[in-house]
Amino acid sequence: MKDREEFSQPSSFPEFLQAFGASLPLDRRLYRHDIMGSKVHCRMLARQGIITEEEASRILDGLDEILVEIEEGRFPFSLQWEDIHMNVERRLMEKIGEIGGKLHTARSRNDQVALDERLFLREEIEEILALLVALMEDLVGLAEQNLGVIMPGYTHLQRAQPVLFSHHLMAYFEMFRRDRRRMVQCLRALDECPLGAGALAGVDFPVDRHFVARELGFSRICRNSIDAVSDRDYLLEFLSAAAILGVHLSRFCEELILWSTQEFSFVRLGNLFCTGSSIMPQKRNPDMAELIRGKAGGLMGQLVSLLVTLKGLPLAYNKDMQEDKRPLFEAVDTVKACLRTFVQMIRTMEIRSDRMEAATEEGFLTATDLAGYLVEKGRPFRKAHGIAAEIVRSCMERGLTLAALELAELRRFDEAFDEDVFPILDPRRSVERRDCPGGTATRRVREAIQQAKEEIRRWREAPPYEEDS
Ligand code: ARG
Repeated sequence: MKDREEFSQPSSFPEFLQAFGASLPLDRRLYRHDIMGSKVHCRMLARQGIITEEEASRILDGLDEILVEIEEGRFPFSLQWEDIHMNVERRLMEKIGEIGGKLHTARSRNDQVALDERLFLREEIEEILALLVALMEDLVGLAEQNLGVIMPGYTHLQRAQPVLFSHHLMAYFEMFRRDRRRMVQCLRALDECPLGAGALAGVDFPVDRHFVARELGFSRICRNSIDAVSDRDYLLEFLSAAAILGVHLSRFCEELILWSTQEFSFVRLGNLFCTGSSIMPQKRNPDMAELIRGKAGGLMGQLVSLLVTLKGLPLAYNKDMQEDKRPLFEAVDTVKACLRTFVQMIRTMEIRSDRMEAATEEGFLTATDLAGYLVEKGRPFRKAHGIAAEIVRSCMERGLTLAALELAELRRFDEAFDEDVFPILDPRRSVERRDCPGGTATRRVREAIQQAKEEIRRWREAPPYEEDS
């Protein structure tokens, strides 16, 4: 292995430059994937007669030992060797001598790092998918257990129409379902093996790229060697999927924060997820939900950070690309931590169905139903809407609810009103009337829950690559 001098570095390479140029502190995290890739590359070299079986077996043994050293915390990492790739190779040569230098035949760190990142991300996405599906399962469980609970649905954060709490929860299920699909699409995007691209032009040895791809679990090889070493689309796609997932978690958290205020009191978050104040004894601050909302901002930043890093780069590899690790690792860690926290938070929160239901009684949530009633009696919708608005106004002035009005009074607004109007003003009736596909009627929500459970079952059965939903 060449040392810095042979790479024609000045012999007194200043430490601050060494630290500046190194990616080791971050990319040492890729050690397992780096060694996995190297082992398959080495076996391929032997199969193709590029190195001997004897050489290959010494290299493979050396790599295995290195893996153990790293896992046991005994590996002598050194910033002198810039990154994980050079640290491993350097150590291999310390262990088995010059022969170790044959491992890098027909390979460059450019295709090597591209491979490591794909292997790493594949594993991480599989973990994220498992967490996401577990979260969706909890969410569906919560929707099922609370199927009878009604609450105000909001637009503009103003009480709008009564809905089932479960219907509201299932709206998040839909968002997470799309998040899951995006993550699966990322798995497809990264499912190409870059090894064999070399530095950029391909390699001048009789390599078997398909063997390497197959052994490492890829369905295909990257088709163009220049693209193979400069493509980071799979990272962008992941960061984008992660940022959108962050938006969804953040919106949910915002609602939990709002719902746990004294003003709403729709939920009470578990003690583990709240903190007190050092000065105000009554405080229960929803810290964990706020942190998830806050960290979602970071996820967006990581996407933008990599987009901007890449946007001005000419082909092929440029050192700027070393900076892709930070957003990648940060996003992976943030997403996993947020999902883990979030699922526990919703699992342990108390749902104040009494408060939710009480909130549907004030705020004229059934005014739309009142208008609907008049439409059924033959009034044009616009006219019915106007009459209902007048009735609401009059109630507001007098501090009354719609249900408190007498029939005689309603008739003063429109003589079409009859006894059968009163059930219409019941929020539960209002919910059940929304019985169109995708609506909030109990029957429809129960259907949605059933469908969701079947989907979850299918996802668990089929490996993520295989299906499309
Ligand atoms: N540490 C580098 C990275 O993470 C590995 C690739 C270096 N390639 C090179 N030609 N300097 O991007």
